[in-house]
Amino acid sequence: MTRSISLSTLRRMKADGTPIVALTAYDYSFARVVDRAGVDVVLVGDSLGMVMQGHGGTVPVTLQEMAYHTRCVARGLDRAYLMVDLPFLSDYDSRAALESAAMLMKEGGADMVKIEANAEQAPIVEALSRAGVPVCAHFGLRPQRVGQLGGYRVQGRGEEAAEQVLADARALEAAGADILLVECLSAPVAARVRASTGLPLIGIGAGVDCDGQILVLQDILGITPGRPPKFSHDFLAGRDSIPAAVEAYVEAVRSRRFPGPEHGFE
Ligand code: KIV
Repeated sequence: MTRSISLSTLRRMKADGTPIVALTAYDYSFARVVDRAGVDVVLVGDSLGMVMQGHGGTVPVTLQEMAYHTRCVARGLDRAYLMVDLPFLSDYDSRAALESAAMLMKEGGADMVKIEANAEQAPIVEALSRAGVPVCAHFGLRPQRVGQLGGYRVQGRGEEAAEQVLADARALEAAGADILLVECLSAPVAARVRASTGLPLIGIGAGVDCDGQILVLQDILGITPGRPPKFSHDFLAGRDSIPAAVEAYVEAVRSRRFPGPEHGFE
């Protein structure tokens, strides 16, 4: 199905300086709510492992589960662009990534896949792009790697690490990524990423100086299992309905009132 927001719309929003509002959704009813509230990009994130399935992380989520949730969300969207995560190890090489993307796009109805990738995975991004798959490359903190990283940590700390993040951005852009998404970077490092590429840059825990923002739906509704992340905000507090909370999030991102300095990292 054709939705009214396309990759060209998102590129134009970057060019115009209109902040892109992104949010996760995992089912039909919430997809309708976020679509009607004016969210531009809906992500079926593998965060569904935590917020829908009750796992401690994203690793257990399967491709089949992603495809199921994608189909449910796709039916609820008329307007928003639909981005979907390639789950852990469904993209371990180019062939696996292509097969996984085919399932999410053909059977699920995704407009774009998101891959957790740094410069090392640039050849996989390139294979997807050459095959005609729109790609969002997610780097900085890559939640599928928290086992290796030893926890959720701010990335790009110190000049050498910051330079590595910038090198990742350039490699992913050169490989054909269409959108970059950065997680858990200090605002100045995210701003340097934005200055070093021409692609729309969406941030989560990366400060206000990005072209767009994304959060997890459950976090903005104050129902995060466990402790909510520092970079999030409960938009339902003080409001009387879920649609009103999502509309408040859209308005706060659009007007650059969210994120504030209190949501960022040094
Ligand atoms: O899985 C997810 O929800 C994400 C985020 C960027 C929110 O990857």
